[in-house]
Amino acid sequence: MTDIKKDVTILAIESSCDETAASVVVNGRKVLSNVISSQIDIHTLYGGVVPEIASRKHTERITQVIREGLEEAGKTLEDLDAIAVTYGPGLVGPLLIGVSAAKGLSFATGIPLIGVHHIEGHISANYIAEPTLEPPFACLVVSGGHTHLVLVRDYGEYEILGKTQDDAAGEAFDKVAREIGLGYPGGPKIDKASREGNPHAITFPRGKVAGSRYDFSFSGMKSAVLNYLNTSRMKGITVNVPDVAASFQQAVVDVLVSHAGEAIEQYGLKKFALAGGVAANNALRAGMRQMCEEKGAEFFCPPPILCTDNAAMIGSAAYFEYIKGNFSGLDLNAVPGLRLGQR
Ligand code: KG4
Ligand code: ZN
Repeated sequence: MTDIKKDVTILAIESSCDETAASVVVNGRKVLSNVISSQIDIHTLYGGVVPEIASRKHTERITQVIREGLEEAGKTLEDLDAIAVTYGPGLVGPLLIGVSAAKGLSFATGIPLIGVHHIEGHISANYIAEPTLEPPFACLVVSGGHTHLVLVRDYGEYEILGKTQDDAAGEAFDKVAREIGLGYPGGPKIDKASREGNPHAITFPRGKVAGSRYDFSFSGMKSAVLNYLNTSRMKGITVNVPDVAASFQQAVVDVLVSHAGEAIEQYGLKKFALAGGVAANNALRAGMRQMCEEKGAEFFCPPPILCTDNAAMIGSAAYFEYIKGNFSGLDLNAVPGLRLGQR
């Protein structure tokens, strides 16, 4: 373990999907800057993230975003103890832009490099939001690409209790939003539309999975929404979009909350955290908070800006690698399918 005598200042870079982000984080918990350049406007034109366009936009923005990250923090390269970067999972082109920028900076300055797992980053956003939080705790990671129920045994040590067997929760939000005409990105739009709708107007199936008690399935739920829309169209019935949004959202929230509740009971958990873009969802936050209160578990959830993709969470995860002495070589490569716990 590295002997830590002073504050550890890390510049973190994130480019795994459609946000180009840079942040300076001290000791894994204190965020000095959190710059996020979103590409949402351009991908909205296509109804989803176009990987080739995302790569090009990252290339255009990354240098400026890193510069802003340092400036906002009032730091220069000389102040840094490490440069961290997301190297997977994610889209290969976008990941490569961040990894190449981090490697270039590390090579030019001699500052150590730390490759970070994107999902570990999402989980670590909770360490920023709640500086007293320490493992062990359980975390539900719900993003556009992942739905994982994880036991965080220690910093960087995970046991996956369950995961989705088909679509990720965020992916289901995005697909349903597109079908009901809300557009991209679907999660925030369904969240907003749901406020005007009745979550009990339509009963969509709560996907159950044979096998692992904690695995998830969202494709059946998504298909049920599509069937409902098609049947309504054929019958000439006008669909109430807020009701469909709210009812679908309720089905997703019910499944996520019930799995989390079962895990809290079975493992006698005292602390439960949410992470990932879908953790920004208001109904999910409220449902999870209420369930945790009922079961006597402390509930943690980062503010929305730390739930969706950002580099501060990467800087936090990197700190715990730094103190273990887990540095990366300049042969660090993008690994689009990187699994949690794999290095
Ligand atoms: O974690 P994230 O920013 O990127 C990935 O790692 O995938 O998650 C993006 C996902 C998208 O599917 C987006 O629709 C969803 O998070 N999302 C939400 C909300 N905000 C973002 N889903 C539901 N409600 C929200 N408020
Ligand atoms: Zn993410």
